[in-house]
Amino acid sequence: MTEIRDLLLSRIRDVADYPQPGVMFKDITPLLADPAAFTALTDALAGIAGQTGATKVIGLEARGFILGAPVAVRAGLGFVPVRKAGKLPGATLSQAYELEYGSAEIEVHAEDLGGDDRVLIVDDVLATGGTAEASVQLVRRAGAEVAGLAVLMELGFLGGRERLEPALAGAPLEALLRL
Ligand code: PRP
Ligand code: MG
Repeated sequence: MTEIRDLLLSRIRDVADYPQPGVMFKDITPLLADPAAFTALTDALAGIAGQTGATKVIGLEARGFILGAPVAVRAGLGFVPVRKAGKLPGATLSQAYELEYGSAEIEVHAEDLGGDDRVLIVDDVLATGGTAEASVQLVRRAGAEVAGLAVLMELGFLGGRERLEPALAGAPLEALLRL
């Protein structure tokens, strides 16, 4: 596993002062452009989907789509997009959450999740945990169970894991890299 971690880490680019001064942005585009690294990432996340007994994979717009969709295919599961508000045409469930400045809202098609589903939520980064927490609430409100949350990287200094623990209620939070 250490070899995979080293490979993934080597393909994440640090970009200073983006999108604003003082922020070190973690750019995953070099990883996506490297087939060995992207395949290793997909396989690792699909393994987590199998271990958690997930029946569906949710990806969080936008970067969670890039990672979550191939994970669903590799694990043989359906993919459900959680989109930023106003993008889904059918009947949706919406969940608002606070950002550092202002607020945001995410949505899912209510018919895509049901009482028999166990959902693995996939995203690239766990930072403050606000996005992930809102997605956990959406899954529960749809009547489905949260099988777990899997991310490529966790920015530990932002406290997302601690924030999410009550919402996850024992479901696993798996981060391939803890930065
Ligand atoms: C980023 C990142 C995570 C989220 C993590 O998404 O991809 O989804 O922030 O932050 P949090 O834990 O503090 O909620 P963002 O919406 O900024 O960009 P994206 O549309 O490129 O995924
Ligand atoms: Mg995102």
